[in-house]
Amino acid sequence: MCGIIGYIGKQEAVPILLEGLRRLEYRGYDSAGLAVLGKKVKCAKAVGKVKALEDKIKRQKLSGFLGIAHTRWATHGAPGEKNAHPHSDCRGNLWLAHNGIIENYQKLKKSLQAKGHKFKSETDTEVLVHLIEEEQSKRGGLTLEEATRRALKKVIGTYGLAVISAKEPQKIVVARQSSPLLIGVGENEYLVASDACAVITRTNQVIYLDDGEIGVIEPSGVKIINLDKEPIKKSNHIIDWDLSRAQKDGFDHFTLKEIFEQPQAIANSLRGRLISEDGLAKLGGLQDVEEKLRDIERLVVVGCGTAYYSGLIGEYMLEEYAGVPTEVEYASEFRYRKPVLDKTSALLCVSQSGETADSLAALQEARRKGILTLGFVNAVGSTIARVTDAGVYNHIGPEIGVASTKAFSSQICLFALLTLFLGRQRNLSLVMGQRIARELQNMPVLVKKVLRQDKVIQKIARKYFKAKDFFFLGRKYNFPLALEGALKLKEISYIHAEGYGAGEMKHGPIAMIDKNFPTLAIAPKDSVYEKMAANIEEIKARGGPVIALTTERNNALNKLADDVIFLPKTLEMLTPILAVVPLQLLAYHCAILKNRDVDKPRNLAKSVTVE
Ligand code: G6P
Repeated sequence: MCGIIGYIGKQEAVPILLEGLRRLEYRGYDSAGLAVLGKKVKCAKAVGKVKALEDKIKRQKLSGFLGIAHTRWATHGAPGEKNAHPHSDCRGNLWLAHNGIIENYQKLKKSLQAKGHKFKSETDTEVLVHLIEEEQSKRGGLTLEEATRRALKKVIGTYGLAVISAKEPQKIVVARQSSPLLIGVGENEYLVASDACAVITRTNQVIYLDDGEIGVIEPSGVKIINLDKEPIKKSNHIIDWDLSRAQKDGFDHFTLKEIFEQPQAIANSLRGRLISEDGLAKLGGLQDVEEKLRDIERLVVVGCGTAYYSGLIGEYMLEEYAGVPTEVEYASEFRYRKPVLDKTSALLCVSQSGETADSLAALQEARRKGILTLGFVNAVGSTIARVTDAGVYNHIGPEIGVASTKAFSSQICLFALLTLFLGRQRNLSLVMGQRIARELQNMPVLVKKVLRQDKVIQKIARKYFKAKDFFFLGRKYNFPLALEGALKLKEISYIHAEGYGAGEMKHGPIAMIDKNFPTLAIAPKDSVYEKMAANIEEIKARGGPVIALTTERNNALNKLADDVIFLPKTLEMLTPILAVVPLQLLAYHCAILKNRDVDKPRNLAKSVTVE
């Protein structure tokens, strides 16, 4: 939520900041702004996407070798220029960009106003810059770093922030508490960013800031201290992916590119992790806790959005094949309940970004209870990856489209790997282990096959994109997939959609069915196929149009359903990996036909770093 980029070096800062902003835009895009330090600090802001800021800047002379910039997802204060970052102090000397929420901002604001500070925005962020100003004016001569440190001691909340001062023109001060921030270490230059994708064109070396740390960046180097002024030693991390993975590669949208990238992404998630002949999964990230995992009697999975749905599919796998009792919960609910956890439980946090605030808070709650914590995370070095005791990376490269696609299919693969891993520690037979491993190996080829039906799905989208509502139905492994299909359609096309376990249809939803209310039924030839076929009959009997997903060579639905999409045959537990592809493509094509901004749907952000 919100993206920050900063630059200090020998190049003109503005183009570098704009490029960084473009890469961070997935984090929020209701307004953007930058401040550059030349002879004095100059600032530009615009409502809407980064492009609007870029167009505005063309008309202004902004020059300097140091600057900070921000792309916003509004929390406090409506989207608008006045609330866009960077925010400044009363005199226009200090400029600050922030990602997070200052919880005690109202109290701080009141006391600062009483001291004569004039606020220009409705944001919580603005108190930070006035607090720093206040510290400096209280004790003349305080450095930016010291004033920031003292100010942050008064703050309750979350922040990733970057601040500059006209009085110390060779310095950026950054700080972090629960919102991601890293420093890119380049050649004769440093960058600051919320995400590595914003610095990767200039350097692959980064320093990840941890909670409670302040970084002071000057041309001569970087110093890290904590809020008590103690120096902290940090090492550089190398980012092992390159720019090509953060570009569109000829696709019209990141979302489409990422849908089509799934065979490769799945192959990357599985690479080196399957020993097919022994029916085993080798998960390096779990090696250190292998013995502890042998003893766990219960797994609690937490996540948000799409990550949560992947967990629901994981639950079916883990219980059916590994025999591990599993519960899946929205991270946002888990953190506010009083979950009963004992030492035989483990918590698994699933998160593409590794920064989702609710998921992180749930994880911290579990840590406080002293139970084993695990992560399925894509973003290497992200907070969740670093806070968990052990975990498995997706290894699928950056996912830029706001709606999650390749992360979902990869997460299901990780659950299948975990099922093998835990199952073979328990009662899963060698033969079944071998089958799962072999079928998993085959997934990239099978997903490629499904992708070849893109044109068929585009045609179906043309038929249905004007519908106002949609049902997605599935059973067993494909019940959570129905939820994910409905979420995808809502997210990117804004068509109202609901996902149901097909057995629930008769308990209310079927009342909605008429000729204008289409249903997408996920009905592969599996153990619940006959039940799904009966549900399709019931919908057709009430005049509802049906698009059916079924296994190739099953022609039984051709007459019954209005449209049929065929999926290759695989193990029942792996069908969601194949069936999700048409759902993603259907949502994509409907969104295009409705002229939606597919990569950046309204009101959403990719990385939800506020509650
Ligand atoms: C946001 C995104 C979703 C994503 C969810 C969880 O809502 O728009 O696509 O599924 O956050 O994100 P995470 O990074 O934790 O997987």
